[in-house]
Amino acid sequence: MSRPRRHKLWFDNPDNPSMTALYLERYLNYGLTLEELRSDRPIIGIAQTGSDLSPCNRVHLRLAERVREGIRAAGGIAFEFPVHPIQETGRRPTAALDRNLAYLGLVEILHGYPLDGVVLTTGCDKTTPALIMAAATVDLPAIVLSGGPMLDGWYQGRLAGSGTIIWEKRLQLATGEIDYEEFIEAAAASAPSDGYCNTMGTASTMNCLAEALGMSLTGNAAIPAPYRERGQMAYRTGERIVAMVEEDLRPSEILTRQAIENAIVVNSAIGGSTNAQPHIVAIARHAGVPIEPMDWQTVGYDVPLMVNMQPAGSYLSEGFHRAGGLPVVMKALLDHGRLNGEALTVTGRTMAENLAPFPAPDGEVIKPYEAPIKDKAGFIVLKGNLFDAAIMKTSVISEEFRARYLSRPGAENVFEGPVVVFDGSEDYHHRIEDPALGITPETILVIRYAGPVGWPGSAEVVNMQPPAALIERGVSALPCMGDGRQSGTSGSPSILNASPEAAVGGGLGLLKTGDRIRVDLNAGTADALVDAEEWERRRAAFQPVYPASQTPWQELYRATVGQLADGAVMEMAVKYQKVADSPPRD
Ligand code: FES
Ligand code: MG
Repeated sequence: MSRPRRHKLWFDNPDNPSMTALYLERYLNYGLTLEELRSDRPIIGIAQTGSDLSPCNRVHLRLAERVREGIRAAGGIAFEFPVHPIQETGRRPTAALDRNLAYLGLVEILHGYPLDGVVLTTGCDKTTPALIMAAATVDLPAIVLSGGPMLDGWYQGRLAGSGTIIWEKRLQLATGEIDYEEFIEAAAASAPSDGYCNTMGTASTMNCLAEALGMSLTGNAAIPAPYRERGQMAYRTGERIVAMVEEDLRPSEILTRQAIENAIVVNSAIGGSTNAQPHIVAIARHAGVPIEPMDWQTVGYDVPLMVNMQPAGSYLSEGFHRAGGLPVVMKALLDHGRLNGEALTVTGRTMAENLAPFPAPDGEVIKPYEAPIKDKAGFIVLKGNLFDAAIMKTSVISEEFRARYLSRPGAENVFEGPVVVFDGSEDYHHRIEDPALGITPETILVIRYAGPVGWPGSAEVVNMQPPAALIERGVSALPCMGDGRQSGTSGSPSILNASPEAAVGGGLGLLKTGDRIRVDLNAGTADALVDAEEWERRRAAFQPVYPASQTPWQELYRATVGQLADGAVMEMAVKYQKVADSPPRD
């Protein structure tokens, strides 16, 4: 159902001629005409995330031209504007600080300017959730256009994936097998073109999940940035958003509980990033959809890993695209009753209708549902005296890890060991090689003060590397636990995103080096084996230690942010919903 164009409140309001004149005149001076601005032609924002600071999204500077042409061809008018940059690899102390800042900025833009709909140009990790979160809060017609992943990287005749090559080569660097220069060269080789990470890291995960949510055209997520189909996808996205405004199809009809469940299921099947947790929870909460920490296990655990892509598998972005990309995965999930096929999407049709034409998996890059890489590949949710909720990504549990820690006779999926505790990553780097720590293959490494408040922003530091002496003995990974996050490109089965974090009084803050921890994946528990009285004594004496804020936003971020299990949103923002329904005053 079409309704009056929102932009007319600015551009055609005879009740307030002087304001209308002011709103209009400056938009005329680069060639738009009075007739078109005052017409019913939809005005479409292009929320531009590309810039020199954001190389992962820089392709959008070029793609926006194709989006504009699509918008024009369909009868709309394009207004491109910048979004606060969020570059995962460049932003210190962490790009996670910028997700809520870009969200906040985009909400203000969408609310305060004469826009009828918006194209969300997504890519690098947090750009995707930031933009969808804002669209959910504002509830204007919105569609996602991914920039697409980079081409496959190659180094010394082998596939070299974003991030995964770093985790692999840093082990060799630690033991002196390669030097600093070779380490840098290998990293550079993994980034051969425009686009975001070519592994199933957080960027590919979140762009796949945007498609799974129904927020992009079918097949959008996997097309590599430099491929010709990417430009055509941009054009069709521009065309489609104009029709969405005519139909008044908004995020509130798409971002339903059904869609959120579809995203959780798809995340397991693709071997998606643990960062999907805070991002999908944040989108759900801004959309007003109820979600619980345990949903990740009840909805997502019992789903097979179908996509053979690093870090859980072998291939990279081009292989995934050639195998048909996400629609092939989703079609198989739908055929096995694992998706809510009736969920409405930006196409104006249901997910099941969108997926109908797609073929069965090729069997190599995308495995059949009934013969997957791994059964039950979702997240396990843990709780105990250390935290109320933390997750473990089971699709990356290696055979070596399973044999060492999870296969003891009589205690399958249970492990226990003494902990070494680090207060932030500087502490870890200073002390990890210290023989006095007495780290053995039984040790559990714990890092705290790495959550939203403690870091601030929450850092990707939980996948800690063992000391070189252990790596030389063949122990390439120890169990890790923390209140921070880890890179979506990491293959570590860490227990992470622990909420509440140490900085706000979570149990990890009470741990001491030498305490023992017991993790029971069957029961879903993780506990410090410290007697209750001693635990309470520590709680009474507890003083959090974390660095002071260095900027105004860090202080504001800390004052408003919630925990990772709750999406690490600005808690005060959740009550603002459908803000486009209350137009700003003149
Ligand atoms: Fe930007 Fe991975 S660093 S997508
Ligand atoms: Mg990252």
